[in-house]
Parts: sequence; C-alpha cells; structure tokens
Amino acid sequence: MLIKRNPNGIDLPFSSEITPRAVFESRRTFIRKMAVGSIASASMLEMASREAFAQAPGAAKLAGKPNAAYATAEKQTSFKDATTYNNYYEFGTDKADPARTAGTLKTRPWTVAIEGEVKKPMTLDIDSLLKLAPLEERVYRLRCVEGWSMVIPWVGYSLSELIKKVEPTGNAKYLEFITLADKAQMPGLRSPVLEWPYVEGLRIDEAMHPLALLGLGMYGEVLPHQNGAPVRIILPWKYGFKSAKSIVKIRFVSEQPKTAWNIAAPSEYGFYSNVNPDVDHPRWSQGTERRIGEDGLFAKKRKTLMFNGYNDVASLYKGMDLKKYF
Ligand code: MTE
Repeated sequence: MLIKRNPNGIDLPFSSEITPRAVFESRRTFIRKMAVGSIASASMLEMASREAFAQAPGAAKLAGKPNAAYATAEKQTSFKDATTYNNYYEFGTDKADPARTAGTLKTRPWTVAIEGEVKKPMTLDIDSLLKLAPLEERVYRLRCVEGWSMVIPWVGYSLSELIKKVEPTGNAKYLEFITLADKAQMPGLRSPVLEWPYVEGLRIDEAMHPLALLGLGMYGEVLPHQNGAPVRIILPWKYGFKSAKSIVKIRFVSEQPKTAWNIAAPSEYGFYSNVNPDVDHPRWSQGTERRIGEDGLFAKKRKTLMFNGYNDVASLYKGMDLKKYF
C-alpha cells in the first residue's frame, strides 16, 4: 500500500493501491507503523485489540418512502460490506476498525446546532431532525477517493429542507459541517492523523441541491455507528470524504471554510472534490473504480463517471475550471 508522509510527518493512508489482499494486510501494516514510529503506539494497539461491536443488536427500524427519482437498477452493496468496510478515522484508520470500535459512540441525546449567517439559529435534537421533513429512501452510489464504490439505500431528506428552516442571510455563502470530537467516545482521536474535529464544507448552492441528503438511516434502519450515526450528509457526486459523519454543528459562513482533508494534504484534496475521472489524484488515477462486493480475482474495474454519474449537478459548476477547482 502506498503511503505518503505529509508535511507534518504523518502517514496518510488514502491509497489507490487497495486490493483485497492489501485491505487484509493494511491493518497489520498500520499497527506496525504505529509501533515503529513514536505516535501513540500503545493506544493504537490497545484500540486495535478492542472487540466492541458498533452495530447494536436489533437496531431501530427507520423506514423512508422510496423516491423513484433516486432509485437504481444497480445491485445494492450488502449491508455487511457497507457496515464493515468504513472510513471513520475517529474510530481508527483501518477499514475494519469502525465496526469494532464505534460501539462507544453515544448517539442519544444528540443535538445539532445551526448557527452563523442565519435569521433563525436553532439547536435541534435528533427527534426533531427525524420529524423535520418526510423521510425518503434514496439509493445512491458513493465513490471514495481511494478508488472504490458502493451502492447504498439511505434514509433521510434533502439538506435543503433544513436550510430553508433556518433562513440563511444574504451573507451565507458556504456551510461548514463540524462533527463530534470526543476523546472519551472516539479512540481514533488519540492519533494525530487528521486535525480534529473532522470538518467539511459546501458552497450554499451545492448544499441546496436536491441531491444533497441529510442522512439518518440506511437499509431501513437508523444509521449504524460506523456509518456516521446519528446524522450525516451524503453527497453522491463528490468523493466520499465530503460526506461528513456524526454532525454536531452546521455553521453558515461568508468565507470558504477549511476542510479536514484539505488541511492534511492541500495538494491532494481540494475543497470541491467532485468525482472527476479526468482529474487524477497526484498519486493515482481516478479513471476507474472497484465496486465493493465484486472483489473476485478477475473482477473488472468499472469506469468512473463524471460527477459519479449525477449529471444534474453540472450546472453548479458552469464556467469553472474543474482542474483548478478540484
Ligand atoms: N466523517 C468523519 N467524521 N470522519 C471520517 O473519517 N470519512 C469520510 C466520510 N465521512 C470520515 C467521515 C470518508 S473518507 C468516506 S469514504 C465516507 O465517510 C465513508 O462513509 P461510509 O463508511 O458510510 O461508506
């Protein structure tokens, strides 16, 4: 697996070199690296050996009305794959870590504070968020910057429903999503692999696009912890890292906010991060992807589509040089 040292001297594990074998081995490699290096080696080893299960047995059902506009004939990723192959660095950097360690996440009570350039700032608890708009089921492809993708039936509603409630002022040009960073619940915070909290951002017209989903569930259940419980965003035309998990605050701001991966490696992860097969990552091609679940030895990679196939969003970027604004 290709690992690059960023200017802070921290290994960035995002990689195109992911094969089933590499996936299998990356955990050991990472632990070894942590042990050889001086960074938090003891705590990471302790975290890696913990056997806590994130998905509580008998998770609460959460149905959404299927939205035909966002249905797909594509085969859905299995629940097992979608909940055991995760990026959620607050719970460890290996794909298998969050399913094991996110059991410590406390999802109730939970509030999301909405503040900044809005006429009606408010703090909503999770029950108010569940009732804010009719829940829909939407099947979205999610394409990770590492070169893999999944097809997942999400439950939620357009983020625009929430935005309309708080009435943004004329100065609100961007949204900043701030996620939970609690050392008591999140063992991964002991590692400085990213700056915490994990933050993401969108231009307000991107956030208002009907495709941008406020996610509360998947596969007819509340979100499993490892997938970003109890509330996250899902932006299927952007690389997966834009879809921030476990959101606690949304700030409406006038300037483009900083984002976690852009802070970690600005030359590799831009603000926009639209899926774009014509703009390679500096260290690997973005032209193809591996669909999780199609991992056989002879499984063919799929061609990655512009905006991950969600061409409706193209008008948001009219006139922009997407090589510059990657
Ligand atoms: N949100 C937080 N708070 N922390 C993270 O590490 N990882 C991102 C994104 N949201 C991440 C996050 C990345 S890199 C991806 S690919 C998606 O979550 C993965 O979502 P999934 O595990 O539900 O597939």
